[in-house]
Amino acid sequence: MISESTTTRRIVAALHRREFTKTASYFLLLILSYYLGYLSALIKIPSYHHATTTKVNSPPQTTDTDHYLFQTRCADPIPSQLFHQTILDRIFNGSSPYKDFPQPHIKPLLRYKRIRGWGSTGLVFKNLIHKVKPKTIIEIGTFLGASALHMAELTQQLGLQTQILCIDDFRGWPGLSTRFQDIKMVNGDTMLLYQFMQNVVHVNATERVIFLPFSTGSTLETLCEWGIFADLIEVDAGHDFHSAWSDINRAYKLLRPGGVIFGHDYFTAADNRGVRRAVNMFARVNGLRVKADGQHWVLDTV
Ligand SMILES: C[S@@+](CC[C@H](N)C(=O)[O-])C[C@H]1O[C@@H](n2cnc3c(N)ncnc32)[C@H](O)[C@@H]1O
Ligand SMILES: *[C@@H]1O[C@H](CO)[C@@H](O)[C@H](O)[C@H]1NC(C)=O
Ligand SMILES: *[C@@H]1O[C@H](CO)[C@@H](O)[C@H](O)[C@H]1NC(C)=O
Repeated sequence: MISESTTTRRIVAALHRREFTKTASYFLLLILSYYLGYLSALIKIPSYHHATTTKVNSPPQTTDTDHYLFQTRCADPIPSQLFHQTILDRIFNGSSPYKDFPQPHIKPLLRYKRIRGWGSTGLVFKNLIHKVKPKTIIEIGTFLGASALHMAELTQQLGLQTQILCIDDFRGWPGLSTRFQDIKMVNGDTMLLYQFMQNVVHVNATERVIFLPFSTGSTLETLCEWGIFADLIEVDAGHDFHSAWSDINRAYKLLRPGGVIFGHDYFTAADNRGVRRAVNMFARVNGLRVKADGQHWVLDTV
């Protein structure tokens, strides 16, 4: 009995040991596969990064210079007196978009006047308008019209017949409505364009300030194809490097000889998002010197 029970105990103990080793090996296997999976994931991530870095290090392909090319050849310039009507004809089906504005269902959604801008009345506007005496100004990034209407006032004070072309999709940016709750929204459509128009109407500037409510990229290309050029161009739309780079390159082609291009956020908290890098790179590539005026950068034509 004793020996039997001892044997049984030994067998049970052995079985337990086997159980243990079985459990342990399952456990080890699990850890191992997990570890392998983890390792392979680790290997995958750097190999992805690696791919992008080696591309930069590999000999330049011809396509690598594509971001420097903004090739569209602009049409011959049309006379500046025709700009306003050309835009009405080709964008607004021949009549002023301010006609019958605001429609009765829109009027209650608007404030009589609602202006808010960023550095929109800096001295740079006065300095450059006095210097250039522009017949045509293109503004890239208008929002509620703070800077556009400031320029309209400055040019009027000088007795200039200046046409101001405002390019903005009037969408603002994702999340606009949480910050500007008084700019109403209708079925997800912000009333930014209408509030801007209301601001223009409020100061009687509907003849002098016309707008092109589309993306900056397509609009600047279109103005180039239509032969619409400017003496003064202000850049203040997207502030990331790629937006600024594209806007500046496209806009520069629309400058008349002797014209000046300038823009916001060279010296503000927003500049490190890319405006300053884009401006500096543009100047370097084109052999220009960047001048600063307050928060703004300024580039002359050569
Ligand atoms: C900083 S606000 C302009 C402020 C204005 N210059 C002022 O001083 O009052 C920027 C504007 O650029 C416009 N914008 C940004 N990216 C754009 C794009 N890709 N196409 C058209 N408009 C754009 C936004 O809708 C916004 O109204
Ligand atoms: C454009 O104007 C013409 C003539 O005035 C009119 O018949 C047509 O409906 C208008 N188109 C749009 C999109 O409003
Ligand atoms: C705009 O014009 C109207 C009528 O022509 C005039 O009553 C009003 O004072 C003008 N407003 C401004 C800001 O010039």
